[in-house]
Amino acid sequence: MNISENSEQLAADTTLVREYLDRAVHPAVLDAQAQESYKRKITQLMQQRKARLVAHYYTDSVLQVLAEETGGFVGDSLEMARFGRDCDAEILIVAGVKFMGESAKILSPEKTVIMPTLEATCSLDIACSIDKFSAFCDQQPDRTVVVYANTSAAVKARADWVVTSSIALDVVEHLMEQGKKVLWAPDKHLGSYIQKTTGADMLLWDAACIVHEEFKARGLADMRKLYPDAAILAHPESPSAVLEVADVIGSTTQIINAAKQSTKKEIIVATDQGIFHKLQQVAPDKTFIIAPTAGNDATCRSCANCPWMGMNSLESLYSSLQDNSNRVEVDSQLAAAAMIPLKRMLDFAANNQLKVRGKA
Ligand code: 13P
Ligand code: SF4
Repeated sequence: MNISENSEQLAADTTLVREYLDRAVHPAVLDAQAQESYKRKITQLMQQRKARLVAHYYTDSVLQVLAEETGGFVGDSLEMARFGRDCDAEILIVAGVKFMGESAKILSPEKTVIMPTLEATCSLDIACSIDKFSAFCDQQPDRTVVVYANTSAAVKARADWVVTSSIALDVVEHLMEQGKKVLWAPDKHLGSYIQKTTGADMLLWDAACIVHEEFKARGLADMRKLYPDAAILAHPESPSAVLEVADVIGSTTQIINAAKQSTKKEIIVATDQGIFHKLQQVAPDKTFIIAPTAGNDATCRSCANCPWMGMNSLESLYSSLQDNSNRVEVDSQLAAAAMIPLKRMLDFAANNQLKVRGKA
């Protein structure tokens, strides 16, 4: 079975993603006083419990600030995994989506890992069920299985390598040098970007991030006319037509570093808007503009805001921390199997200087 040709499968996945989206209820907006009160209570509890907060750049800026103020960490998914593994916390609070919590638990089985919500998932994870993925792998025994970190523990356990967006190109290049053919899942845009850049022999699963898929190349071309001197920075989960006009393509951290180093004053960004908090912090003299999700064929379901990342809030974090609810648990056999490709990625990252593509 070639998943790309299986339209029934795709229709089923789309329905499933919609069902999860319907459940992605956004937290109420708190006034400044309520925010401060929650932050005080959370900080106190974290000190008592030896807890650390690890947050992704797409989460609410109030959580990113809290993570940094309390000795935690804000980063891309590779860095979050690494910080979670290396920090000395007894309780790790992961503000992000399910796969991030699971990776943290797999890498630190001795720590209690909790999340503000266990309902925060990812369209890539949803669209790559272990049964279908496993059947796909069984039909391609000669291929090295490389999966994106945005997958379940079970899918990782079936893989030879796990990669994040900051390391995917380097790992596939390394495999290609060894003459390996790759089976890639689940993000088709990231997969096809790697395929085009490296020339590797890759068979791609067909799934996409509902946030990045909405960036529109035509709208971006119009925007470029308005800002002719602007640099374009894009996450590789964006469609190929968007990546083709980008000056730098990289993970969230790589985008932030590129923005900091860029000589341009105006920067168009094709990724989730949550990243603007850090971008404005690291480059206050620059103007950041969100890439358009509008245009003739646009639907803008997410408008550059991941609905699942948005479920993380001070309130839900406080409630989870009070009684250590929303614990992330991963079956021990699955965790042991998933640890192998995850560790392979972290070892590779430790031993290689990762490349960033493009210049802004
Ligand atoms: P990064 O690893 O670049 O932070 O990406 C994670 C993600 O989910 C992007 O949508
Ligand atoms: Fe998944 Fe996209 Fe949300 Fe990232 S932004 S967690 S890839 S749905």
